[in-house]
Amino acid sequence: MAVKPDATDALVLDDIRKSYFTYSGEVPVLKGVSFRVKRGEFLGIMGSSGSGKSTLLNTLGLLDTPTSGSYFLDGKEIGILSDKELTILRNRKIGFVFQSFHLFPHLTVRQNIEVPMIYAGVSRLRRHAMAAQMAEKVGLGHRLDHRPNQLSGGECQRVAVARSLVNRPTFILADEPTGNLDEKTGNEIMNLFHNLHKNGTTLVMVTHNPQYESEYDRVIYLRNGRVWRVIDNVNGTREEFET
Ligand SMILES: Nc1ncnc2c1ncn2[C@@H]1O[C@H](COP(=O)(O)OP(=O)(O)OP(=O)(O)O)[C@@H](O)[C@H]1O
Ligand SMILES: [Mg+2]
Repeated sequence: MAVKPDATDALVLDDIRKSYFTYSGEVPVLKGVSFRVKRGEFLGIMGSSGSGKSTLLNTLGLLDTPTSGSYFLDGKEIGILSDKELTILRNRKIGFVFQSFHLFPHLTVRQNIEVPMIYAGVSRLRRHAMAAQMAEKVGLGHRLDHRPNQLSGGECQRVAVARSLVNRPTFILADEPTGNLDEKTGNEIMNLFHNLHKNGTTLVMVTHNPQYESEYDRVIYLRNGRVWRVIDNVNGTREEFET
């Protein structure tokens, strides 16, 4: 029987496969990934380089389409939506944070934070106020007019976190958000995510840092495009699978 999401599920993946097709042939990257993310859960995704973490996160974030399998986001089956519907869903429901920040270098902190609101059609006045409020939330209220090259790496990532929050997304997806930061600054960014989690946001974070393993509600380990270990820190369980 086909998998169906229930009201407690934020995301449901059922047998997701993803191949890239190159000149030298098919490159299978995700080879049948199935799991659920509960509403309000803080999920970590770990695994060695090349195991498929970013591919999986991009699929969750509707930046990439799976080759096969079912994906339900907030109860909606993604496979049957048009490109336009996907774009709207991505903009309204998902906030992204990337390892290399992905800020616009020529825009100020305030303008960078405003970008997703422009796409969402928010009025100029409201964008302005909201950007200042979000900058304040991540401790950058005093840096609104700085451009990225006038900020530290940690501050850039704070801007990216503020930007990910402006449309009040249901989910935050973060791909190695602490990967370019020193330990102390990385921990500060991690604390921002913990605060969001406490306020009920659903978070999925890819990381290489084993130090964070115990900080997630649950950690899914990928190996060679498959889930091979699930550590549940809430229930204190650990499962391993053949890959
Ligand atoms: N566009 C693409 N075309 C072909 N192969 C790709 C493409 N993107 C990724 N791959 C391959 O898919 C595999 C998984 O890549 P992915 O970026 O998901 O890994 P990752 O787990 O995020 O690794 P890292 O920890 O280094 O970021 C890699 O072997 C990569 O070379
Ligand atoms: Mg990656």
